[in-house]
Amino acid sequence: MVYENIIVERKDSVGIITLNRPKALNALSADLTRELEAALQDLDNDAAVGCMILTGSDKAFAAGADIKEMQFKTFMDVYLLDCITVGWEHVAKVRYPIIAAVSGYALGGGCEMAMMCDFIIARDDAKFGQPEINIGAIPGAGGTQRLTRSIGKSKAMLAVLTGDMMSADEAENCGLVAKVFKGEEFDISLKDIADRIANQSKPLAKLAKQAVNVAFETTL
Ligand code: CAA
Repeated sequence: MVYENIIVERKDSVGIITLNRPKALNALSADLTRELEAALQDLDNDAAVGCMILTGSDKAFAAGADIKEMQFKTFMDVYLLDCITVGWEHVAKVRYPIIAAVSGYALGGGCEMAMMCDFIIARDDAKFGQPEINIGAIPGAGGTQRLTRSIGKSKAMLAVLTGDMMSADEAENCGLVAKVFKGEEFDISLKDIADRIANQSKPLAKLAKQAVNVAFETTL
């Protein structure tokens, strides 16, 4: 498949997918998410890969679902086309560990897509938020579920009801983000973490990921 909205690379045993619609701050259009699904499937089936990174640009991981594409769709269009599920949810289904590497904005669907990954590493300028309420919507891809489980009801409510953004440090303090690195350290530390995961036993990494995810998604 020829990709127009993402860049796919493999560095040693790490598969890297970079969201690449800079003019739209990587807004998650239908074309982008279709490409993303195909790339994730390819990397997940690649025996040489042991870890994946999903990232964006310096300015934005992703500023959300593509509002320009979404704005004229009715509820029934969205329901029948399964818009915000097709492609998107595949991020949460890959079997290899997948890290969201976030610089700049991770808003709405962008924050939700980062949360579909196994954990989030952020640059110190990252901003997280669920601003859907400001545009006449509510989070549609896990912002009311994964965010609540991740940071607790009170902070999730505040984020979802005000639409306010959270800094990288705040996101780390409340557990949304695993680690924050300053500008110049971000790429080096991200590579180090991804390489170390990729060099673990592949079946054990998959099993460990699955076990943590089952704990997150079910009761004890
Ligand atoms: N969809 C489509 N295009 C978007 C976009 C989005 N979510 N976010 C930004 N863009 C586009 C802008 O329209 C603009 O393009 P044009 O110049 O062609 O108009 C370009 O990206 C740059 O954006 P700005 O000029 O607004 O950049 P800024 O630096 O001034 O502001 C921002 C940055 C604060 C992120 C602002 O762009 C913004 O608020 N974006 C919308 C964020 C949002 O509401 N996200 C939620 C979307 S709904 C959703 O995701 C539903 C869900 O749960 C799945």
